[in-house]
Amino acid sequence: MPSVVILGAQWGDEGKGMVIDIYAEKADVIVRYQGGNNAGHTVVVGGEKTILHHIPSGILHAHAQCVIGNGVVLDPAVLLGEIDRLKAKGLLTNDRQLLISDRAHVICPHHVALDKAAEAKKDTKLGTTGRGIGPAYRDKAARSGLRFGEFLQPEALRAHLARELPEANFMLEKYYNQAPLQLEEIYETLRGSADRLRVHVECTYRVVNDALQAGKKVLFEGAQGTMLDVDHGTYPFVTSSNTIAGAVCTGAGIGPNQIGRIMGVVKAYTTRVGAGPFPTELDDELGQRLRDRGGEYGSTTGRPRRCGWLDLTQMKYATEVNGLTDLVLTKLDVLDGLSSLRVGVGYELDGRRLNVMPSLAADYFRCRPIYHELSGWPGSVSGCRQWDDLPDEANEYIRFIEHYLHLPVKLISVGPGREETIVLEQPFA
Ligand code: IMP
Repeated sequence: MPSVVILGAQWGDEGKGMVIDIYAEKADVIVRYQGGNNAGHTVVVGGEKTILHHIPSGILHAHAQCVIGNGVVLDPAVLLGEIDRLKAKGLLTNDRQLLISDRAHVICPHHVALDKAAEAKKDTKLGTTGRGIGPAYRDKAARSGLRFGEFLQPEALRAHLARELPEANFMLEKYYNQAPLQLEEIYETLRGSADRLRVHVECTYRVVNDALQAGKKVLFEGAQGTMLDVDHGTYPFVTSSNTIAGAVCTGAGIGPNQIGRIMGVVKAYTTRVGAGPFPTELDDELGQRLRDRGGEYGSTTGRPRRCGWLDLTQMKYATEVNGLTDLVLTKLDVLDGLSSLRVGVGYELDGRRLNVMPSLAADYFRCRPIYHELSGWPGSVSGCRQWDDLPDEANEYIRFIEHYLHLPVKLISVGPGREETIVLEQPFA
């Protein structure tokens, strides 16, 4: 089956952008299926950094077609900014290289205003990215969202705003004490964006299914990570979309039997941005060292990421809820020079050992990690390009992960560049 899903197995920021960029070299179609511009995928090519929020990371390969599926929520202004920046770099020379589903939902200015206002008012903050993601998905579920198909039609757009803006303004003014938004202003801005984006809009489920039926190599690009899934993550400290592999079907419009491999991207340690439980967090000098060495600052918001040891109990859960078939291990070089390494292999809660993540965040907050200790390695792995180049201790670290999860590691990254990788197997070879 020539389709591959690449998704985050932790709390996002696992380095999916770089992995997708590498695998996209051999792919025909790259599809995003959930999330919005809360994502920030960083790709470094020839020392030049490109950060993508909406557009699939495969866009850096001119031969591939990039699709934004119906499960994604899109902020038109942000998307246009991204398109303009790519064009200025000489990329995205053909408009049809980027297709957007006519069923994808629009993030409107009132969604952004409501997201920020709600977060500011909350006693227990979630630490959202403030991009309007939650309100846009809420409107979608409430059947009052704006889809790209309607967004392109001026009359439908105006009617939508006339219907929905009064409620949003009521909340902004009366509940959040904020200034209301002006319908005409929003209408004009959105209409201008719609005119420019029209050329990209398409019934994308057809494009993806046609590609699959023609035996083309299709890569599904996840955003965020498993533990931010609205059903299976650390609710309520999650995003508002399903981030697990099942979301590929609903967010791109394909059947489960069309999915071939499901590759989970896992950082050699763990990070998370925003609030929520994180048992293996290192709130000390070591955590700061990982943050500094790993450049662990959010590519969307610039916020420092919380850092900690790799948690294999969490990864076991991610393996199951996604049906992972393979692993990609990123940022191994960040662990360089540590004399010993720890990996979480269980939790202790109220004097009992747990081998699975509890479903309630309140319990997960109280879990203490149980660790297995391994030796670190001297020197740096950043120059390694083959398995045999790695020090024995790094080999052992990776083998331990593989045995624990019963999954093979297919790619290891040892630096931010496209070439700083050990490719053990290309899924589209
Ligand atoms: P939202 O998706 O902006 O509503 O934010 C909800 C939670 O998900 C917050 O804790 C965010 O920090 C987190 N989050 C959202 N997108 C990402 C991402 O791409 N990487 C890591 N964390 C994310």
